[in-house]
Amino acid sequence: MPRVTFLHPQGKSGEVEVNTSLLEASKLLGFVLNNDCGGNASCTTCRVEVQVGAENLSEIDFDEQDLLDREALSEPWHRLGCQAKVLGDVVVLVPEGKWVAPTTQSKTQGQGIEIR
Ligand code: FES
Repeated sequence: MPRVTFLHPQGKSGEVEVNTSLLEASKLLGFVLNNDCGGNASCTTCRVEVQVGAENLSEIDFDEQDLLDREALSEPWHRLGCQAKVLGDVVVLVPEGKWVAPTTQSKTQGQGIEIR
């Protein structure tokens, strides 16, 4: 299974199934990306900066590119966590000032993953 690493002081790393979105992976790993719109590609609060393995994420579709462009996040390393699906190992940076700890723990935390 691909390994996903979220770089952040509270970040996590672990393995997830292929085709899991970065947002879903963050929930599984217990480091929930912000997701104000609930993963509907309309807020950009889930955005990450890909450090390693950009080729191991699904291609950017029209909706993701359109939103990134509107928010001036059009560098190739910008991705929306709710839209980018994991196809192989990837390391992403979560901007420290853009992440807020959720008030409740994810119900899926720790299920079906191996954290090392
Ligand atoms: S959660 Fe809103 S754009 Fe990804």
